[in-house]
Amino acid sequence: MKKCYLLGAGSMGTLAAYYLQQAGVDVLAANRPLLTRRLFWPQGTHSASLSLGADDNQPIAFLVVATKGPDTATALTPLLPRLHTASTIICLQNGMGTLDNIALPQGTTVLYAVTTNAAWREQGQVHIVAENTTLLGGELTQAPPWFAKLTAHWPGLSWCDDIVYEQWRKLTVNAVINPLTAIYRCKNGELLTMPKAFEQMQFIAAQCDRIASRMFPHWPNDTLERAIQVANDTAKNTSSMLADVLAGRTTEFEFINGYLIKH
Ligand code: PAF
Repeated sequence: MKKCYLLGAGSMGTLAAYYLQQAGVDVLAANRPLLTRRLFWPQGTHSASLSLGADDNQPIAFLVVATKGPDTATALTPLLPRLHTASTIICLQNGMGTLDNIALPQGTTVLYAVTTNAAWREQGQVHIVAENTTLLGGELTQAPPWFAKLTAHWPGLSWCDDIVYEQWRKLTVNAVINPLTAIYRCKNGELLTMPKAFEQMQFIAAQCDRIASRMFPHWPNDTLERAIQVANDTAKNTSSMLADVLAGRTTEFEFINGYLIKH
């Protein structure tokens, strides 16, 4: 991978662009002029500037899609004529089904990244909360040749042969935590201290397990335990859905709980 375009320069997109640049990839801001950001690591350990070149309107071999779910179709549609049979899309988004109604050119390879990294953005500044793990996989039977170089510069990145399962693992936790934090306007950890919210967590988790175990016969029916763990681990975080509500943005509900309901 020599050149890659980034669509959606929120916190996760910016962090991915930073890792890609560290791996020697020329990252351009899709649909945008030159873009600059500053990244801050936890506890003020260090910071870095990131500058992404302006879109050059050339054919796209690699595209990272890191837009919010509801913005994906509008943002991606103008780029479709630049995708071709050898293009690879890396979808780095919350939720599932974000590309479902988009007519990608035949032969486009779609890979999905499932990350437990945490970061938030305030205008041009991206504050990294935690660099955890990122799994990448999708429509390829094995990791592509460019992957090894990327792992050297992307902390916690590994190849996953069953990314759909991992997407469902994350989706179900998000389905339990995100809407309830948005309804109660509370931090993730506070869900565990409110009896009514906790009862609703149990209810949603049971529904998730019911749906997921139809998809995956070996599903461990552990959504509640995992949601409790994540709510504890991210106790002081504002969930992405609450952040959307507070900012007046359309939430990703359709691509999280909505996606589950469709199954
Ligand atoms: O969407 C989010 O905010 C995060 O995925 C999670 C795990 C709920 C933590 O805030």
